[in-house]
Amino acid sequence: MSTETVEKQAIPPGFENAHAGPEEYRRLYAESIEDPEGFWRREGQRLDWIKPYTKVKNTDFTFGQVSIKWFEDGVLNACVNCVDRHLETRGDQTAIIFEPDDPAAEAQHITYNQLSDNVNRMANVLLSQGVMRGDRVVIYLPMIPEAAYAMLACARIGAIHSIVFAGFSPDALSNRINDSGAKVVITADTAPRGGRRTGLKSNTDAALLHCSDKVRCLVVKHTGDQTTWVEGRDVDVKEQMKHVSPDCPARPVNAEDPLFVLYTSGSTGKPKGVVHSTGGYLVFAAMTHEYVFDYKDGDVFWCTADVGWVTGHSYIIYGPLANGATTVMFEGVPTWPDAGRFWEVCAKHKVNQFYTAPTAIRALMAKGTGFVEKHDLSSLRLLGTVGEPINPEAWNWYNDNVGKGKCPIVDTWWQTETGGHMITPLPGATETKPGSATVPFFGVKPAVLDPTTAEVIEGNPAEGVLCIADSWPGQMRTVWGDHQRFMETYFQQYPGYYFTGDGCRRDEDGYYWITGRVDDVINVSGHRMGTAEVESALVAHQKVAEAAVVGYPHPVKGQGIYAYVTLMNGVEPTDELRAELEKWVRTEIGPIAKPDLIQWAPGMPKTRSGKIMRRILRKIAENDYGALGDISTLAEPEVVDDLIENRMNRG
Ligand code: WTA
Repeated sequence: MSTETVEKQAIPPGFENAHAGPEEYRRLYAESIEDPEGFWRREGQRLDWIKPYTKVKNTDFTFGQVSIKWFEDGVLNACVNCVDRHLETRGDQTAIIFEPDDPAAEAQHITYNQLSDNVNRMANVLLSQGVMRGDRVVIYLPMIPEAAYAMLACARIGAIHSIVFAGFSPDALSNRINDSGAKVVITADTAPRGGRRTGLKSNTDAALLHCSDKVRCLVVKHTGDQTTWVEGRDVDVKEQMKHVSPDCPARPVNAEDPLFVLYTSGSTGKPKGVVHSTGGYLVFAAMTHEYVFDYKDGDVFWCTADVGWVTGHSYIIYGPLANGATTVMFEGVPTWPDAGRFWEVCAKHKVNQFYTAPTAIRALMAKGTGFVEKHDLSSLRLLGTVGEPINPEAWNWYNDNVGKGKCPIVDTWWQTETGGHMITPLPGATETKPGSATVPFFGVKPAVLDPTTAEVIEGNPAEGVLCIADSWPGQMRTVWGDHQRFMETYFQQYPGYYFTGDGCRRDEDGYYWITGRVDDVINVSGHRMGTAEVESALVAHQKVAEAAVVGYPHPVKGQGIYAYVTLMNGVEPTDELRAELEKWVRTEIGPIAKPDLIQWAPGMPKTRSGKIMRRILRKIAENDYGALGDISTLAEPEVVDDLIENRMNRG
């Protein structure tokens, strides 16, 4: 894709009174970079503080002593900011619209008063289970209001939540319970999605076999499906909530106390527990939600992500609720009962801002425009995307058919680690270019570095790896239990910078184009997967000797998972075994990690020191044989011919 030929799209009418116009963006951005202290001292005041901060920024990116602190002497409570402080002015306003999986079931409108009641009760249930300030609570729930109650209840009592996406397997769940040292796991009986049901309680039972027997299991009886019940360990949350008080005092915490841990895939080893702070994170989530979506009082905001991902944390729960918004929580999927479900829900709840992933847009685009045309989308004012680069075809389809050419599209680049939007248009300030995340948000100082010299590339255009030159309040603080790993992952390779793991290009206009990961992380349907995780799941199978996993271009998912598998001596490669391995990975990690293609590889291309040359495997998976590069350093160059010969799914 050539960036030079892409025309800028003008700001659509109706955004003259947006939170920021072009002039204001320039002025505030300049201020945020020249005087971060002053800028964030003011912005921090968007929250209610129990004890106001006097210090604003205290951050150091030096490898070996990385330390990130914002508003460090301030004291607050995140739940009070998302719930209590709205009660006086908007107690009867809807906080959460819950849209169930089943389109025939009634949606729930939960007011701020009702939210408060439920959160306080849930907090009292947690206290009654012995959960204290600083304790970890794992949440393994479907997209139901109880997930929001549980998050905010933890925040209320100063406990740290760690959500595990409900699509993850028992193994993935037990690893996260153990790594975080959680005292409690909150789950549900079963989770309906797209008309099917996942047994979350049975998964949790299986996970808890590998955890301390002290871990309590709080069960939300959501569908009423029958489950096993372990007396003394399992607790019926909804029943308990009826019997406790609707008042639970909010625990004041320090700005730097962790609000949550969220596990995410890296290029090596097991997933990392990304730690986010209370003060800085909440300031950043609230501010980006307001500016990037131009959120105004009374708007209905819908982010289609799952609360199991960071997008759900920041833009279903914390950002919107800190701003007193009405936020939609959707339990279902975009394609069930048909490909019109998103649009039906937009029309039904008169959604104003709609935020989704390019993979969903591509999946719906493939079903034709008929499903969009059936629904009245006149309430939509703004569209957003996140999770992966959006291809211009999908951008245009979204713009023409969903936005009818009237809604700005905000293509927001950010990461689990960044807490909130980093590079993104502001709807009233930034002319967009399809496929570009455009320009940095306030306080964000991107830098393009040369991957070989680690030098900053000044001037435009520029191409290299994307780093960030200084801290912002929403930045992750550490890896849970492993600060060394935090420093090595993000601050070692490019000294003095936060390294994002993404490649990027900056064009003549200073617009950023994210080109994808430069490490061994792949982005499948907007979900981050470490290739190392899939590999270790594969080699855990007794018939597998070795496995190497790479990404390859996939028309709907963005990237698909391509696995090269070497079998144990004497094992026959059969279609049955292929199906068995796919199922194996599903149960080891979860359905999102299932390989799209498995190629039998009698040998792997390795260097003489035994390192698998993934670059070559990536090229073969991409059907790009002309660009294999130098293979003469391989121990056995002939395996490459064999792999090409057997490249699956040619064409
Ligand atoms: C990718 C999701 C291009 C990127 C919030 C990043 C994107 C990774 C975009 C983080 C975008 C996210 N354009 N690429 N607008 N947004 N990415 O941690 O590779 O699940 O590093 O956070 O997704 O994924 P994560």
